[in-house]
Formats: sequence, structure tokens, C-alpha cells
Amino acid sequence: MAYEHILVFREGAVGRVQLNRPQALNALNAALMAELVAAFREFEQDPGIGCLLLHGSDRAFGAGADIKEMAEMGAIDMYTRDHISLWDEVARVKKPIVAAVSGYCLGGALELAMLCDIIVASETAKFGQPEINIGVLPGAGGTQRLTRAVGKSLAMEMVLTGRMLTAQESLAAGLVSRVVPVEAYLSEAQKLAAEIASKSPLALRLAKEAVLQSFETPLSAGLAYERRLFALAFASEDQKEGMQAFAEKRQPQWKGR
Ligand code: CAA
Repeated sequence: MAYEHILVFREGAVGRVQLNRPQALNALNAALMAELVAAFREFEQDPGIGCLLLHGSDRAFGAGADIKEMAEMGAIDMYTRDHISLWDEVARVKKPIVAAVSGYCLGGALELAMLCDIIVASETAKFGQPEINIGVLPGAGGTQRLTRAVGKSLAMEMVLTGRMLTAQESLAAGLVSRVVPVEAYLSEAQKLAAEIASKSPLALRLAKEAVLQSFETPLSAGLAYERRLFALAFASEDQKEGMQAFAEKRQPQWKGR
């Protein structure tokens, strides 16, 4: 499939998508988001792909939803066109997604990065929800996911002032898993994605589902959920193979079932 706003690469078992609207700092218009969802769906259905990787340019992962596209929209347009449901589609991806973030990661782009499972940041990354400066508030999950990621006080400061976090601040707050020099953030994220892609696809799916469930349930219900998925893993050939390979001191051969 030909795309206008993204570049798509298949690198071994990693499906890589680069946001590619440099003239607008990768502002996320509806067309770009639709392409992103289509590319992710293709990778999701490809049994040869174990992990997805999403990034932008060194200057900008993304500057947010496209302000020029939204400026003249009314509430009913916003409700009926429902572009924001495209972010929900990313949330439905079952394979792990690594985001490699450099430069600006603002508004809807931060909301997109937070839908990814792991964020690797370059030292130049700047994370913010600046919607307050254009007379609105985050609309693609920022008030909820940022608060869960960094806690109430810092989330409130970011959402109410629009202040951007540095990469180091975002690491200290737990928003990202590591900070890497700008020359290396993408290759580091590629290595991480390749490592994840080398695991059992079935175990990855169960593990992602279990961790995400922690955002939806109280602890006791989350633990019960985890226990059921853990038991389910024992119905798989990959569990038998993984444990047998450990005992035989060899690398496991995953089947994804
Ligand atoms: N939407 C549309 N175009 C954007 C954009 C956006 N979010 N962000 C940047 N651009 C465009 C600029 O208009 C500019 O285009 P022109 O050359 O045609 O004028 C080009 O990208 C380069 O941007 P700047 O000249 O502004 O670059 P800069 O280096 O001076 O500033 C910046 C960079 C601080 C990121 C600044 O561009 C900026 O503040 N952008 C807007 C950030 C923002 O408010 N994001 C939130 C959007 S709303 C949202 O995301 C809602 C939601 O929750 C779903």
C-alpha cells in the first residue's frame, strides 16, 4: 500500500513506521492517522512481525494534532467525524509497540506515544500537552494517560501550563524507559524492538494484555486477570517449548501458539 504521510519498513521481525510530514513537524492530521492505523493493521496481521516501532524525525516525533485542520471545526464536526477514534485504533493493537521519540512530542503526538508500550527518548526530546495555549485541553487521552504515567501534580502542571518536560525529567517521572543520545536513540529502539520480537508472540500478547489491564481494574481483579492469563499460557506449545529449551540449555523455537 502506498502512503503519503508515513514511511513503512519491514526489518526482520520488526515493523517500523516513520511519521513523515516534516513541513508540519509531523502534525497528526486525519489522513496521517488513517495511514498509521492501516500500516499498524497490516503489521498486526503479519505473522512474521513480532514488534512494531514508531518514530518521527530527530527534530520532531510530532507537534500534536493538526491545528490548522481543526481550527474551523465545530463541536458537531468534531463529534461526527471523530478523528480522535483513530488514536483508539492504535490502543487496540495487540503486538508490542516501541516509540522512539526525539525533539517535540506534543499534544496528540504525546497521546500517541503514550499508546505505545515503551518510549525510548533521545536527549533532545521534549514532552508536553500544550493544548491550554490554544484554548482547549488534551483530547486524545492526555488528561487520563499522562496522569497515570507521571502522577497528578506533574500532569496538572503540564496540562494547566503547557510546560514541556525535558528528556531527563520524563525519565525521572517514569514517562519513558530510557534516554539515549540523539545519534543513537533510533538504533537503540530498533535493538529493543528486535529483542522483543524474538520472544514468543503468544506470550508477548498475553503479557501486554495483562500489563494494560492494570490500568483498568483494582489490584485484586488485576491479579485474578493475570492468573487466568498465566494459566492460559500453559495451554500453549510455546510454554512447553520454552521450559523444555531451558532444561535442555538451548534456544527455544517459538510457534506463536
Ligand atoms: N498543527 C499544524 N501545523 C503545525 C503544528 C500543529 N500542531 N505544529 C507545527 N506546525 C507547523 C507550523 O505551523 C509551521 O508551518 P509553516 O512553516 O507553514 O508556518 C511548521 O509546522 C513549523 O513549525 P514552527 O514554525 O512553529 O516551528 P518552531 O520550531 O518555531 O516551533 C513548536 C515548534 C513549538 C512545536 C510549534 O510549532 C508549536 O507550538 N506547535 C503547536 C504545538 C501544539 O499546540 N500542539 C497541540 C495541538 S492540539 C492537540 O494535539 C489536540 C489533541 O489533544 C488531540
